[in-house]
Amino acid sequence: MIILAIETSCDETSAALVQNGVHEICSVTSSSAKLHEKTGGVVPEVAARKQLEFIVPVLQELLEKSRLTKDDIDAIAVTIGPGLIGSLIVGVEAAKSLSLSWEKPLIPVNHLVGHIYGNFVDNTNLEKITFPALVLIVSGGHTDLVLMKEHCQLQYIGGTLDDACGEAYDKTARLLGISDYLGGAKLSELARKITKSKYYGTLPRPKIHDKDYDFSFSGLKTAVRRLVEKNEIPQQDIAFDFEKSVVEVLTKKTFNAAQEYNVKCILLGGGVSANLSLREAFDKQSTDEGLQVFYPPLRLCGDNAIYIASAAFFNQNFAKLSEVEADPSLGIV
Ligand code: KG4
Ligand code: ZN
Repeated sequence: MIILAIETSCDETSAALVQNGVHEICSVTSSSAKLHEKTGGVVPEVAARKQLEFIVPVLQELLEKSRLTKDDIDAIAVTIGPGLIGSLIVGVEAAKSLSLSWEKPLIPVNHLVGHIYGNFVDNTNLEKITFPALVLIVSGGHTDLVLMKEHCQLQYIGGTLDDACGEAYDKTARLLGISDYLGGAKLSELARKITKSKYYGTLPRPKIHDKDYDFSFSGLKTAVRRLVEKNEIPQQDIAFDFEKSVVEVLTKKTFNAAQEYNVKCILLGGGVSANLSLREAFDKQSTDEGLQVFYPPLRLCGDNAIYIASAAFFNQNFAKLSEVEADPSLGIV
């Protein structure tokens, strides 16, 4: 089964052709991220206009590169949310138009579920991942712990009460003067230049000892602001302790949940799952506890239509065109 997927939830316009959920045939992604760097954040209206500009050329390029025709394609999949409404609408309407004119079924996909399937776009992983699995989604908009009982069977068990993990990274990068837009990776690079710091433990580890599986990162960001204002601790040491705090909290809560729900596999997804310190901590803890951890390949941690196609294949909930709508507030319930 070949699925053509479209992902336009934020500032990436991405389209992909994937066979049987695991074999990537071809993909094309255009991004308006450079424009948002100038304004220090995504301006939704600008992102939506860029989606409109990119969507047709991206789809044209995809079809030309793949040399497939509409007759080779079995279904159309599209991200319906969460995300920016103006951006989502562009992808959803493009997908509906293709579905209608090519007479192909349409599969709506939750963006967060898509992130999980970054782990499945590879036959090797597919054979190794066992259910139930615990999923940690860490992106710019979400920090969610989800129990995956099977494909299509997800149970939300906890999430952020305020800032998402990626958002905390980005806001802290801005406070430290590292970057005004999507500074998470740069903050981590700076943090990783040192391996220890005499200021280790200065920042709080929010909710680390709480028994629930919720997270709170906004207080951490405020604590960083206070340190920056005092101007007593070097920037690199603040970055180091910030990353330690986030990684320690994510690791503790995820492995506690893995134990409580008796899972053998942990899957990570979302932009922050590219973080090397997080991967190292999860690798170490999983070795200690005899669990298996899976990460999406680095190029599939950020937003991409490849895993939207994969999620659509493993969750074939075909919908009527009239039922498919962009929904920015969608989560996992
Ligand atoms: O999943 P994603 O591409 O977009 C959303 O769906 O939100 O995630 C983007 C987030 C941004 O906050 C970005 O700074 C963060 O992921 N990010 C990182 C790293 N790479 C991306 N945060 C920490 N360390 C990284 N290496
Ligand atoms: Zn995302």
